[in-house]
Amino acid sequence: MKAPSFPQLWSRIADRYPRLAEQLRERTLTPDEARSFYDHLGRKLDWHAFYENPALDELIEHLELSQASHVLEFGCGTGRLAEKMFSNLPESARYWGLDISRTMVELTRARLEPFGERAEVHQSDGGPRLRVETGGFDRLVSTYVLDLLSDDDIAAFLEEAHRLLARGGLMGLVSLTHGYTTSAQLLEHLWVGLHRLNPAWVGGCRPLRLLDHLPAGGWKVRYHRVVTSYFVSSEILIAQHA
Ligand SMILES: C[S@@+](CC[C@H](N)C(=O)[O-])C[C@H]1O[C@@H](n2cnc3c(N)ncnc32)[C@H](O)[C@@H]1O
Repeated sequence: MKAPSFPQLWSRIADRYPRLAEQLRERTLTPDEARSFYDHLGRKLDWHAFYENPALDELIEHLELSQASHVLEFGCGTGRLAEKMFSNLPESARYWGLDISRTMVELTRARLEPFGERAEVHQSDGGPRLRVETGGFDRLVSTYVLDLLSDDDIAAFLEEAHRLLARGGLMGLVSLTHGYTTSAQLLEHLWVGLHRLNPAWVGGCRPLRLLDHLPAGGWKVRYHRVVTSYFVSSEILIAQHA
């Protein structure tokens, strides 16, 4: 007898135990779990660069950084993206990084030391509301972070992003997304299965479609593409504060 595929198995579980299936589907890491996970992971986070870099490079290419002056990053990790962005920013531009994990804040601070006072990195409390000035930024970036948040926190973050960005400012997001190739779909099934059993096994991240979360009003989509690298599909979304 042929073994059922993961989606077949999942739909059988969902038919039989609808409440359990709903709870597993919606389960994401709490801020405390995320903090503890990334504090322990530390610089090993950079091992993910092999599949993330093509999407990050494409984001940078379309973010018009040469015209930016105030950049905010939510969930800066080890500072890899920030370091790449600095080589595209004008000399006068400044960067603020936020992360829930103390270890990540320290790694980013160390990495950005050559940029002196142009870079500031702070530990955040994990809530989607950020204690920063309204309209104070012309770029807001967040990569592989929204895929860790619950749907409600994604909505709250996007509302906050609209408050923080000046009119005309650009928000650049990258997230894990649904597989676009057959091999990427197979990997996605495995990934989603692991996430449902225990989100921490996959760093709390699950594939989503960023565009579905973007509110209809207040934003103009400037760039949208899915790239697949090493069987992992990533969605790049750049939206302008309209
Ligand atoms: C998958 S890593 C991505 C890091 C980095 N942006 C990158 O692309 O390599 C997720 C990062 O988001 C941070 N993070 C997770 N939940 C957060 C929250 N609620 N608020 C702020 N940072 C958070 C983690 O500490 C970690 O550094």
